[in-house]
Amino acid sequence: MTASFPALRLRRPRATAWSRALHAETVLTPSDLIWPLFITEGQGVEEPVSSLPGVSRWSVDLIVDRAREARDAGIPCLALFPNTPREKRSERGEEALNPDNLMCRATRAIKDAVPDIGILTDVALDPYTAHGHDGIIDADGYVLNDITSELLVEQALNQARAGADVIAPSDMMDGRVAAIRAALEGESFVNVQIMAYSAKYASAFYGPFRDAVGSRGLLKGDKRTYQMDPANAEEALREIEADLAEGADSVMVKPGLPYLDIIRSAKSRFQVPVFAYQVSGEYAMIEAAVAAGAADRDAMVLETLMAFKRAGCSGVLTYHALHAARLLNG
Ligand code: PBG
Repeated sequence: MTASFPALRLRRPRATAWSRALHAETVLTPSDLIWPLFITEGQGVEEPVSSLPGVSRWSVDLIVDRAREARDAGIPCLALFPNTPREKRSERGEEALNPDNLMCRATRAIKDAVPDIGILTDVALDPYTAHGHDGIIDADGYVLNDITSELLVEQALNQARAGADVIAPSDMMDGRVAAIRAALEGESFVNVQIMAYSAKYASAFYGPFRDAVGSRGLLKGDKRTYQMDPANAEEALREIEADLAEGADSVMVKPGLPYLDIIRSAKSRFQVPVFAYQVSGEYAMIEAAVAAGAADRDAMVLETLMAFKRAGCSGVLTYHALHAARLLNG
């Protein structure tokens, strides 16, 4: 039996800061954050990404400094993305398999200098293909599932051999989680995790990311034959169920805020670790609002990140990770 007004005053516990702290149902800490970083060739290079104000691509030596900052702020894990020079891109994206590509060099450098931070590596061919798609395309531009999956397995092994802790397939091919898991087990990478980008939508929010990895100008068409239709929720649960059955340790929903409903239903249905990617377009929207004088950055960043936790996330990939961690550390 619930009391009613005036015995029930829901404002009563909100009246003081100590009481609000005591009643908080959700907590956000730096250990909830994964920081995506973009890597570029060279030494001592910082290249700002104009569509992501405040975000830069860093050469491998400077990425190591970012890793130290992240560790010092209590961020447990970094997500790495390469900006592959045009001349190393190809129809089939073979650079993804090069043991000395940017991803592998950055992974090794960070593991050497900051061994106690986790490294998540993205598996998909778009940073390496001349056409900007996540896989091998046929004459009509259709991304071919099974041969792409074979390459993704090789890409994942290449990353694991360089020291990646978490393999994160973002390509949306069917069956690739099982294939990657089997290959990792086959090479005794039994503790290398798979975080599957299971519910990844064909979204308008990825534009600045494509600038950052250098694939925006290259991409022909869109990704709707492999990424999900924003109209669908039931299908997201089927994707998640399939990836879990194939051996994913955790699943991801992407983009973030427009898809909180998917996060909540995934968490309720499967009771597994669910992560969200607050993607580049979401970051850019917040920064644009701040630049327009329409919002307070710190408050907006912390509120959006808290929303992911409340919806059921174990953690969030966000370009605001370092800033948020420092705010949370006081
Ligand atoms: C590529 C990939 C994308 C993102 C992460 N991995 C873009 C895409 O699918 O085109 C987007 C991340 C962001 O927008 O921040 N497989």
